[in-house]
Amino acid sequence: GAARRTVAPVVLVGLMGSGKSTVGRRLASRLDRPFVDADDELVRRTGRTVREWFAEEGEPGFRVAEAELVADLLAAPGPAVIAAGGGAVVTPSTRALLTERALVVWLRAGVPFLVSRARRKAHRPLLDDDPATVLARLEAERTPLYEEVADVVVDVEGFHHGAEKPKRALAA
Ligand code: S3P
Repeated sequence: GAARRTVAPVVLVGLMGSGKSTVGRRLASRLDRPFVDADDELVRRTGRTVREWFAEEGEPGFRVAEAELVADLLAAPGPAVIAAGGGAVVTPSTRALLTERALVVWLRAGVPFLVSRARRKAHRPLLDDDPATVLARLEAERTPLYEEVADVVVDVEGFHHGAEKPKRALAA
């Protein structure tokens, strides 16, 4: 990725439950940049929830919309901090854009840690099935893809974000 371009957008990647939104919000505030959650932005722009995208267009349809959104966000002026959806890296054009235009931070964690943290949420239809099974499969499929795009790898199990601060400071 464009690690040496100081104006590059920072994009957080990693599996569901790795903390992309939490870390992204804090990083954006430290860098005084806007924070964009790609899933939230997709819903805002298309008027359809992630679950509706999956139900009505299937995962492939969702991936197309997600890829268009990420391309749009990376083309926007003014460097933001962006939390990508966990599966954004499965789209080859997205990996190419991330490599070219973003400083990509992979929040890496093992499956048991992710299972303990990844809540079933409306925007996570993939976790309707057994989360341990799903996350193990996604880890196997995506580890090489995260590796391919990452400029920085943060082991979020070793470094529990914000562990050095009182819990209430994290809410900000
Ligand atoms: C997905 C992760 C979700 C959301 C969608 C698909 C995935 O985002 O984009 O449910 O394939 O890993 P989060 O990683 O922000 O939960």
